[in-house]
Amino acid sequence: MKTAIVSYSFTGRNDRVAEIISEKLQIEHIKITEKKQRTIMTAAWDVMLGRKPKVAPSPDVIDQYDLVIFMSPVWMGTAASPLHRYLIRVKKTKKDYAYIALSGGGTEKNPTLKKNVMQWAKHEPKAFLDMHVSDLFSDKEISNDEIQRYQMAEEEYLVFADRAITEIEKIL
Ligand SMILES: Cc1cc2nc3c(=O)[nH]c(=O)nc-3n(C[C@H](O)[C@H](O)[C@H](O)COP(=O)(O)O)c2cc1C
Repeated sequence: MKTAIVSYSFTGRNDRVAEIISEKLQIEHIKITEKKQRTIMTAAWDVMLGRKPKVAPSPDVIDQYDLVIFMSPVWMGTAASPLHRYLIRVKKTKKDYAYIALSGGGTEKNPTLKKNVMQWAKHEPKAFLDMHVSDLFSDKEISNDEIQRYQMAEEEYLVFADRAITEIEKIL
C-alpha cells in the first residue's frame, strides 16, 4: 500500500512528529507550505471566516497514494486551515485517510475536532488521534499561552510519534 504522511505546522511541532513517523515507518513525508506569511491573527481569522489558504504542493499530490496520513495543529477546535484544500481533495477522490493532531489541548479538549475534519473530507478517517501538549503537564495547571510557547524536547517528540505510530500500524 502506497502511503504518505502530509503535515502542516505553524510552530514546527506537527512537522517534527511527522518527520519522525516518516523515518520510522519508511513512508514519504510531504510538508505543506503557504504562499502567504502566517501569523496568529490570520490563523484565527482564517478559521472564523472558513477560508481555504493557498498551499504548496498542490493537493492533487495525494492522488498517487492509497492512504494519506494528515498531521496538523488544531486552531479554534478545528484542523488548521492550510489542511482544508487537502481535505476537499480527499472528499473529491474518496481517498482513505487518517488525521492526527498534536494540539495544545489546554482549556479545551477539541470535542468537535473529528466532526469538523469530516465537514471537509465528508467521510470517516481510517484513524483519528488528537494528542495534547498539555498532557506533558498533567500534574500542574498551565495556561494556553504557556503551552503554545513551550519548547518541546526531542524525547517528548518521540513519545508523541510512538503514540501516533501505534494508531497508524493498525491501518497499514
Ligand atoms: C490561533 C490558534 C488557535 C489554537 N486553538 C487551539 C484549540 O482550539 N485547541 C487546541 O488544543 N490547541 C489550539 N492551539 C494550539 C496548537 O494546536 C498547538 O500549539 C500545536 O501543538 C501547534 O502545532 P504546530 O507547532 O505544528 O503549529 C491553537 C493555536 C493557535 C496559534
